[in-house]
Amino acid sequence: MTDATDARLAAQYEAYPYPQRDPRDEAKRLIVGSPGHSREVDYWVFGANRPASRPLRALVAGGGTGDATIMLAQQLAREGRPGTVTWLDRSAAALKIAQARAAVRGLTNIVWEQRSLLDLPGSGLGPFDYIDCCGVLHHLPDPDSGLRALLSVLAPGGGMGLMVYAPYGRTGIYMIQDALRTLAPPEQEPAARLDVARRVMKHLPETAWLRANRSVTDHLAGGDSGLYDLLLNPRDQAYTVPALHDLLTRAGLEIACWVEPIRYDPVPLLPDPRLRARIATLSMLERAALAENLAGNIAAHIVYCTRIGETPVRADPFHPDAVPICREMSGEDLAKGIQPNNTLVVGLDALRVPVPVPPMAGAILRLIDGKRTVRDIAAQLAARGTGAEAFDRAWRALFPALEAINRLLLAAPSGPREPAAAPPPPTGA
Ligand SMILES: C[S@@+](CC[C@H](N)C(=O)[O-])C[C@H]1O[C@@H](n2cnc3c(N)ncnc32)[C@H](O)[C@@H]1O
Repeated sequence: MTDATDARLAAQYEAYPYPQRDPRDEAKRLIVGSPGHSREVDYWVFGANRPASRPLRALVAGGGTGDATIMLAQQLAREGRPGTVTWLDRSAAALKIAQARAAVRGLTNIVWEQRSLLDLPGSGLGPFDYIDCCGVLHHLPDPDSGLRALLSVLAPGGGMGLMVYAPYGRTGIYMIQDALRTLAPPEQEPAARLDVARRVMKHLPETAWLRANRSVTDHLAGGDSGLYDLLLNPRDQAYTVPALHDLLTRAGLEIACWVEPIRYDPVPLLPDPRLRARIATLSMLERAALAENLAGNIAAHIVYCTRIGETPVRADPFHPDAVPICREMSGEDLAKGIQPNNTLVVGLDALRVPVPVPPMAGAILRLIDGKRTVRDIAAQLAARGTGAEAFDRAWRALFPALEAINRLLLAAPSGPREPAAAPPPPTGA
């Protein structure tokens, strides 16, 4: 089902493909983020149980100018991992840019599909093990049917990474969108509307809530595409935590992870013991909603989800064979950020949250390379005089602390997991 607003949306992304990217920049840097980072998919979607050697069939629905497609395809290629990333979008202009970016990188593991995601059912595409849909559902005429279309091509046991807008962190945006609808009606040509928006931005009153909002930057740093997408988009619908949960439940999905988990935990925001006692009585969903209401800075929700009942049991980070891996920043660099009072200060937009880590955190982090097992790390520290118990205590504090900020995960196993070894026969048998 499409409508006049959807036709305007399609026209927007032809005039201003999003996000604004110059393919030449691919020679200088790889843009990484959530959702769709291969290490996040390995851990949050597949619980670090799915072998890296198993081909991954990924779909990036509404792939735009290619950020998630390029990231995931490059990460697979860099590690020699098999699989394909299918980019799908309606926009011919976005396709051109995304393809040019892939060409600069010499990526050959991308499949290109210029079409509507609403046409996925019966398209013959898929099934896909991982579906990424970032910043798209909230623009659709009916997000529920968009999600159903995606689900129709999700393989059994597969999962999705979704991003939708969140209302409180977008404070100020909807006021200016309304103002611009008056000054630059949606029926006008995109270029004329953009001109009006630029003029308004020059004179934005000091008191406009958008000026006070430190969680969004697209209108300042995102070029024409960013400004248009934020302030002139013909349709966007923001979801609170409970509203997103309802959207997913209606589709038969459950959340495996809110990214970053710490954003959805009110405990670090409220040190008062009485308040913490009350928080302890709340459900996970109530806690997430409380954190959203308190912090007020969540401008988009990023979740990994699976069909209800299909979220895999995550591999045990305390098992000696587990292989910890840093998401992006190296263990060495993470260690450098540890303060003398044994905290890592995490920036969540403008919010600074101190995360306590054990005194041994730096020594452990420096040994994490995505290859060493927990057993290897313990052995190296033992050779320097650290007792097994002391390591175990520190690791049990460190992993959950850094997992919550999405910095430390577990790697996918390189091959199929060995079945548990049969116990040795009793001696004397
Ligand atoms: C805000 S952009 C997001 C691009 C990309 N996912 C990202 O986050 O960088 C939204 C994208 O969704 C695409 N889109 C909107 N409706 C669509 C539909 N029905 N089918 C396929 N793509 C669609 C637009 O063309 C646009 O490229």
